[in-house]
Amino acid sequence: MDQIKVLLLGDIVGVPGCTIFQKHIDRLRNEHTIDAVIVNGENAATDGLGITQKLVRFFRHNGVDVVTSGNHVWNKKEIYDYLNEHHDLLRPANYPSGVPGVGITTFKCKEHLVAVINLQGRVFMRENLDCPFRTAQTLLTILKEQTKLIFIDFHAEATAEKLGLGYFLDGQITGMVGTHTHVLTADECIFSQGTAYISDLGMAGALNSMIGMKKNILIQRFLTQLPVRFVVETEGPFIMTGVLITADTRTGKATEIKRITVVDDDITL
Ligand SMILES: [Fe+2]
Ligand SMILES: [Fe+2]
Repeated sequence: MDQIKVLLLGDIVGVPGCTIFQKHIDRLRNEHTIDAVIVNGENAATDGLGITQKLVRFFRHNGVDVVTSGNHVWNKKEIYDYLNEHHDLLRPANYPSGVPGVGITTFKCKEHLVAVINLQGRVFMRENLDCPFRTAQTLLTILKEQTKLIFIDFHAEATAEKLGLGYFLDGQITGMVGTHTHVLTADECIFSQGTAYISDLGMAGALNSMIGMKKNILIQRFLTQLPVRFVVETEGPFIMTGVLITADTRTGKATEIKRITVVDDDITL
């Protein structure tokens, strides 16, 4: 069977996330014979909010094929031009038409065309976006002519919405992975029609944190309900999580999905 192995990593948060990613990506690629890498970069900026052109280049330089994102992609205004001019960084496809960037792209992997779609959820999310289910359906109708190897990063809060979209698209895509909660879930599986699924990939960042941020500040917000400024946790140990999906290139169906967790207590920033 001709197959491809794709590593998908959850939100990379700030300097801790970028550092653990850079330290381990080549080893992972060799150990697991990984053919392609997709990472969510919406929190890669030093302050954990948004992403810069320099950081997209950093990921690309380290062998990332596509950087996906989510609600935080808009935090750094300098990325707007990059989003318009390059398609290796995606923003969710279901934002209103006219916003910078695209939510779908393709790249070549071992002579095969691989497509990536980025979508954002609507449950417990502030933004009022188009229906991710219908947006996916429309995009897949166009993509079907081009390739069967299709991955979706569904950036969403609620597991029900993620599971719903996963089941809705079962058999039409190779894999659907959730992002945004920064917490790795243990529900990875392959649905009956061959689509690999996990509710959330987790993140790369400080292990003893909340979403990669200093936890005491977030606890204060719960206690007081006052607005707070999030600060990236820079104390180790650090963690990086995601999944490795193996797919049959002939059918586009997944044959294996495996969680990947790297914990490193030997990084000084
Ligand atoms: Fe995030
Ligand atoms: Fe997010």
